[in-house]
Amino acid sequence: MLNKIKLWKNQNNSSTLRDKIEEIKKLPVPEHVAIIMDGNGRWAKKRALPRVAGHYEGMKVVRKTTMLANDLGIKVLTLYAFSTENWKRPKNEVDYLMKLPEEFLGSYLPELVANNVQVKMMGYKDQLPDHTLRAINNAMEQTKNNTGLVLNFALNYGSRAEILDAVKQVLNEYKSGILKETEIDEQRFSSYLMTANFPDPDLLIRTSGEIRLSNFMLWQLAYSEFWFTDVLWPDFSENHLITAIEDYQKRQRRFGGI
Ligand code: FPP
Repeated sequence: MLNKIKLWKNQNNSSTLRDKIEEIKKLPVPEHVAIIMDGNGRWAKKRALPRVAGHYEGMKVVRKTTMLANDLGIKVLTLYAFSTENWKRPKNEVDYLMKLPEEFLGSYLPELVANNVQVKMMGYKDQLPDHTLRAINNAMEQTKNNTGLVLNFALNYGSRAEILDAVKQVLNEYKSGILKETEIDEQRFSSYLMTANFPDPDLLIRTSGEIRLSNFMLWQLAYSEFWFTDVLWPDFSENHLITAIEDYQKRQRRFGGI
């Protein structure tokens, strides 16, 4: 009997989710959603678990969020998985975080392939351990012909460094005569960033109650809508993403106009 009730509850929940997805799709859905997945450590601490247990739970939420984003017709989902500043964390935590892409892709790559998801990464690859890079490169290769959601991991990513690198590239091309001063406009400058092939995020989500950008996509977020929640990343559910998008759909974007 208990099992029957559980089954009924699951069926009921998934049909409500499907209804909500269909409802949301009647209005424009953000093309690019970026998420600062914060609060894994606090989630673990509340349960007297090691911090890495929070990251493991967080990884499972990445899967659910990716599948829903794909179903909603979002084009790009950028997830801040490791910043250039995160190397300052204890070695055991850094080592664990560097194993998560393998763990995630080891479990879910077939599902991502089957669902037409393309895996991408932005960030400084040079400092990543070989095993991390191998898992990412393999996933990018296996999904390169997919045409659905782009799941873009920001891994060893830092926005200030990215902007400085773009400036240096512009300077070099200017000095060597490839680029004229008059050609350097916002669109051209964007093409030197790691997001060159993506539209700017329409919606930025940050979990865990922190209201800051933490060196994430500082150029690209200039006109994005921000959505903050106190929910810790491991507790972030499909319904939270749905609510964030419903809120986004109520906003009036003016891009500096009236
Ligand atoms: C911030 O929370 C979270 C991170 C630095 C890591 C985020 C990584 C994941 C959610 C898993 C990524 C999964 C894949 C597949 C790469 P925090 O540790 O700073 O939390 P706290 O502020 O509560 O301490």
